[in-house]
Amino acid sequence: MLIQQSIRNTDQIIPGMLAPEGPWRHCFSHYPFDVELALAEGVYLYDTNGKRYIDASGGPMAVNIGHGDPRMKAALSEQFDRYAYVHPTFANRRRAELCEALVAIASPSLNAVYLCSGGSEAVDSAVKLARQYHVLTGAPGKYRMVSYFESYHGMTLATMSLAGNPAYRKTFDPVMSDWLHMAQYSEVNMPPDVSRDAWGVQCAQELERVLYFNNPGTVAAFIATPHGAGADYGLVPPASYWREIRRICDEHNILFIADEVVTGFGRTGRMFAMEHFDVEPDLMTLAKGISGANLPLAAILVSDKVNEPFRKDGAYFLHGFTFQGHPMACAAGLATLQILHDDKLVEHAAAMSPRLFEHAERLKAHPTVADVRGWGLFMAMELVESTERREYFDVDKGAERLFQAYALKNGLAFYGTLYGPRRSAAVRRGLPMMICPPLCIQRDQIDDMMDRLDTTLSEWEQRLLG
Ligand SMILES: Cc1ncc(COP(=O)(O)O)c(C=O)c1O
Repeated sequence: MLIQQSIRNTDQIIPGMLAPEGPWRHCFSHYPFDVELALAEGVYLYDTNGKRYIDASGGPMAVNIGHGDPRMKAALSEQFDRYAYVHPTFANRRRAELCEALVAIASPSLNAVYLCSGGSEAVDSAVKLARQYHVLTGAPGKYRMVSYFESYHGMTLATMSLAGNPAYRKTFDPVMSDWLHMAQYSEVNMPPDVSRDAWGVQCAQELERVLYFNNPGTVAAFIATPHGAGADYGLVPPASYWREIRRICDEHNILFIADEVVTGFGRTGRMFAMEHFDVEPDLMTLAKGISGANLPLAAILVSDKVNEPFRKDGAYFLHGFTFQGHPMACAAGLATLQILHDDKLVEHAAAMSPRLFEHAERLKAHPTVADVRGWGLFMAMELVESTERREYFDVDKGAERLFQAYALKNGLAFYGTLYGPRRSAAVRRGLPMMICPPLCIQRDQIDDMMDRLDTTLSEWEQRLLG
C-alpha cells in the first residue's frame, strides 16, 4: 500500500510539488507527507501502517544517540518534575552542569559557553561574538565574514549571508550582508603529481588571496565546516589544509569559527571533528547531536583569547534568547553526553566506520554513484546521471524525490536536502546523499542498511536510466 502510495505521490509531484492536504493543510511545507511516523526506537522508525525504516541519515545528521532512549526519558521527566522553565537570569543547575560538561570534552582553550536553541542561532551568535570581539579589542573596522561559496550555515539572514549560493540570495539580497566567499577544498581538479598535503596547503591559500584583494583589516572571521559543503559535501581535507587556514587567520587577526553543528558529538569517530587535525578554532558552533535531537539545543564554545575582552568591566555579549539554557533542553544535553559516555558511542562510531566504508566499492560500482566519502559514521554518496560528465539529473526528472520514494519502499529513511532542483549550471556536479545512522548502529544493521541501499540504487537506476 505504502509502496504504491509513495511511488504514486512521487509521480504526481514531478515536476512540481504537492501542497499539503487534509490535516496537514495548515503546515507550511511544500513536501508531501508520504509517511506518518508512529514510533521511533534505536535506529528504527515505524510508520502508522507498522512499516519499519532504518533512519539512514539520523534525521538531518542529528540523531547521534538512538531514538527513544529510556535514560533520556528519565532525565527529561526528572527535570520536568522539578521545573520545566525558568527565565535565563535565574541560576539553573542543569545549565551550569551542561556548560561544565561541554567545556570538559572540548579542546583546552574553549572554556566559555553560550547556549541557544538551534544551529542557525549558534552560527548567528558566533558571527556576533566575532564582530564584538574586534570592537572590544580596538579593531572596529573588522566586520566581514569569509565563508565557502557552497557553504550552508543556517536559515537566518546572517547565516544565509554566509552562503554564497545565488539561489538563496536572490530573493533576500537587499537585506543580506555583503560578505566574502571563497572556493573550498576540492579534489576534482587536483593535479595527479601533487600530494594531498601540498594540495591542502594550496587550497587553503585561497583564503590568503581573498584577504589580499579585500583588505583583511575589514575581516572579522573565517567560518567553515570541518568537511566540504555543497557539491563536495563530506569531503575531508588533509590536516595541512586546516593548519594553513589557522596560520593565515592568525597572521591577519581573523577569528576561525569551526561550524561543528553536523560533525560534533561523535559523528566522525572523534568527539569533535577538528580533533582529527589537531587544530583549535577560536569559536565552535554546536547543535543537532548535542541533544541527540531530543529537544532544540545548541551552543557556541568560545576560546579564552576571545572571551578575555568580554570579561572586562562594562563589556558583555549581547545575547538573550528566551530559551537559551532552557532547563529541559539542558537536561537533554546532559543525558546525551552521559549516554555517549556510558555506551562509548564515539569509540563505537570509530569502530563501526570501517564496516560502513567496506560497502563503498559496492556503491561505487553503480553507474549513478560518482564518489563515496566521509569519516566515522558519516558517509556522503555523490549521485549523478553520468559519472563521465559528473552531473546530476535535470530538475524535471524529479530524481531526488524518486530516490527517496524507492528508499522508503525498501525501508530506508533518507534526509532530503532537495539540493538537486536548485542546482545551477555553474555548480552542476552530483547530489550528495548522506548516510549518517544513529551512532548506536550495529554491524548487522549496517549490512542490512547497505543491502537496502544497493537495491534502492538499482531500482532507481532502472527507472531513470532504463
Ligand atoms: C553546518 C551547519 N550549520 C548550521 C546549520 C543550521 O542548523 P539548524 O538547522 O539547527 O538551524 C546546519 C543545518 O543543517 C548545518 O548543517
